[in-house]
Amino acid sequence: MVLTFSAGCGRYWVCDQVGASETRLPERVFPTGPYADPSMTELAPGVLPFTPRFALWSDGSDKQRWIWLPEGQQIDSSDMDDWAFPAGTRVWKQFSIAGTRIETRLLEKRGPGAGDWSALAYVWDAEQTDAHAAPLGEIDAHHTEHDVPAAGECRACHGGRRSFVLGFSAVQLAGDAAAGELGLSDLTERGWLSEPAPSEPVVPGNDVEVAALGYLHANCSHCHNQNRPPRGGARCFAPKDDYDFTLEVGRLDTVESTPTYQTVVGHAVTRGDPDDSKLVELVSSRGMFRQMPPLATQKVDSDAVANLRRWIEGLCGFLGRRWASCCSWLDPPTRSNLRRRSSRREQRESRRWRTWASRRRRSL
Ligand code: HEC
Ligand code: HEC
Repeated sequence: MVLTFSAGCGRYWVCDQVGASETRLPERVFPTGPYADPSMTELAPGVLPFTPRFALWSDGSDKQRWIWLPEGQQIDSSDMDDWAFPAGTRVWKQFSIAGTRIETRLLEKRGPGAGDWSALAYVWDAEQTDAHAAPLGEIDAHHTEHDVPAAGECRACHGGRRSFVLGFSAVQLAGDAAAGELGLSDLTERGWLSEPAPSEPVVPGNDVEVAALGYLHANCSHCHNQNRPPRGGARCFAPKDDYDFTLEVGRLDTVESTPTYQTVVGHAVTRGDPDDSKLVELVSSRGMFRQMPPLATQKVDSDAVANLRRWIEGLCGFLGRRWASCCSWLDPPTRSNLRRRSSRREQRESRRWRTWASRRRRSL
């Protein structure tokens, strides 16, 4: 589908070139960590693994994540939704496919300001002995379908929150951590947080709702939220502010109190009707201007789409049959209603093609 381009800057999908801070990072990943020695097997001292509860979909590749906090430093957790990390913090995420290391991403906090981060991907060599900086990214790395993002693209997502770090947060670390991994309670015990989390955040709802809200938080909220930090110059892929998919620590009482419910349901989500929900259309598609998220994925996450559909079907009380839900009761599948729904869909289709055709004409 063609989106309405109201994001401010015209070509919002063109990201900045590499920033000066990235060029100061080492050319090889080894000196940055996370490994202790050049054989790249053991972790360096103080480098600790963690796994966010809700992951970003990365076309099914395996991901490992580690963090290193400078000795004796604390994370400023006075804003429980956007932690501020001390200068010197390093966080890595490594992508592997079928046991082969493809790339290792690095985020490094270089100064005290919220925006003082460097972000860069390192692509592993064929021998798996080291990884080299890839400021421009790499298409089909290691002959897989995996694309390594360019440094400017990291900021499209990470720059959308003041914390810059997206998967190491109170909501993402709550609950039981895997053995040997960091969880929220470990951070409190280690004295890593300036203000310990008052209680473990619990995401509201049944399994379907929790999975749906968590998925939207992990995959969408870094761009679609109403507290995005200002940034000098254009930030690529910055949407309008109307949708907010964040799981906020202070707004977890009920499903209805979440920003997702309040800003998206009734707009990009039609209660009880996934087929009439723009959100479903966008997460089920791939292709420029048609998919959400708009970058870093080429395959549809079909399990997640199935769960989002179930969530939307159940928004009026899912009784096992579509027409048993309350909104279908208001809008039953009578012949005239079905005709109206499909004509709405047709109108959308034809609008989409008209826009597409006129953009093509302009660009030729
Ligand atoms: C499409 C959005 C997106 C892009 C593009 C992206 N990231 Fe991330 N990244 C995320 C999200 C969301 C998480 C947390 C969830 C997860 O890890 O599954 C994350 C996690 C990470 C982590 C672990 C620390 C953390 O924030 O949780 C590192 C390190 C990282 N990314 C580095 C990078 C670098 C470097 C680039 C660019 C080369 C990049 N990322 C591009 C969205 C993105
Ligand atoms: C990298 C940033 C980014 C991520 C991540 C992202 N979006 Fe978007 N989204 C955009 C941009 C940019 C637009 C188009 C500009 C606009 O309409 O605001 C957009 C548009 C949309 C629209 C259409 C708005 C309209 O009414 O035309 C919906 C719905 C949407 N996104 C949902 C999602 C969902 C659901 C996810 C997660 C699965 C997601 N987005 C992830 C940047 C992003």
